[in-house]
Amino acid sequence: MKPSSAEEEEEEAVPGVGPWDECFEVAVQLALRAGQIIRKALTEEKQVSTKTSAADLVTETDHRVEDLIVSELRKRFPSHSRFIAEEATASGAKCVLTHSPTWIIDPIDGTCNFVHRFPTVAVSIGFAVHQELEFGVIHHCTEERLYTGRRGQGAFCNGQRLQVSRETDLAKALVLTEIGPKRDPDTLKVFLSNMERLLHAKAHGYRVRVIGSSTLALCYLASGAADAYYQFGLHCWDLAAATVIIREAGGIVIDTSGGPLDLMSCRVVAAGTREMAALIAQALQTINYGRDDEK
Ligand code: IPD
Repeated sequence: MKPSSAEEEEEEAVPGVGPWDECFEVAVQLALRAGQIIRKALTEEKQVSTKTSAADLVTETDHRVEDLIVSELRKRFPSHSRFIAEEATASGAKCVLTHSPTWIIDPIDGTCNFVHRFPTVAVSIGFAVHQELEFGVIHHCTEERLYTGRRGQGAFCNGQRLQVSRETDLAKALVLTEIGPKRDPDTLKVFLSNMERLLHAKAHGYRVRVIGSSTLALCYLASGAADAYYQFGLHCWDLAAATVIIREAGGIVIDTSGGPLDLMSCRVVAAGTREMAALIAQALQTINYGRDDEK
């Protein structure tokens, strides 16, 4: 039966085949293809522009990769009409999550790293249906690591199952964060004060890292290589794919208030354990970045 409206686009079930298997396979192929383009471009001259701030960069490769992914997805899945993609959103496209199948794409996560040839750069493709995340595919292009997570089917990196850390003690934790794009004095003050609060809370044991790619930081958390992550100012395209991967690796992804995750709220705490997530959330002061779906 043909869908009667965009809100009713659904994939027909084929016996023995999950409803989104083909979508997942195509996402994997596209993330790998995108990775080849990004790897090649990493060492070449780049045209760099700024977006919301001097720390928020975009290059012609971000556009090229996004165009490739979106145009291929449109060809392969003509009934899918919902795309949330970083650079289209920066050019004014609305960022709305409906019940329809929705692709959520970050063509280069870690653009600033990419510009500097700092080799921590990823492609992120998430997929949601009925506002529920079904799968996530993240390709760490320079290390050729493919992280995947599918709802109810586990999370993997290059075929190896992922498992988060079970650490509950902040004094023993390795915590990741990202600065976010804003650099005005008030934002920086709260950012630094959040870090200071956590450092003071456990001065001897607390370790923090900032690697310049929120999706890859979240993948490290999913792998058990870090115990927690928090950030204000990341977007739904930074978070969608990684959320499925972390949850499928046994981890927790929540709002910085301690409540349920809101993909559009530009804020997150993730951790291997609920106790660790709650400790981090309690320590944080909010930085208001607004909502993705209100821009
Ligand atoms: C950014 C990176 C950065 C994080 C920002 C993100 P982009 O994504 O993940 O680490 O601090 O909040 O928006 O712009 O490189 O795709």
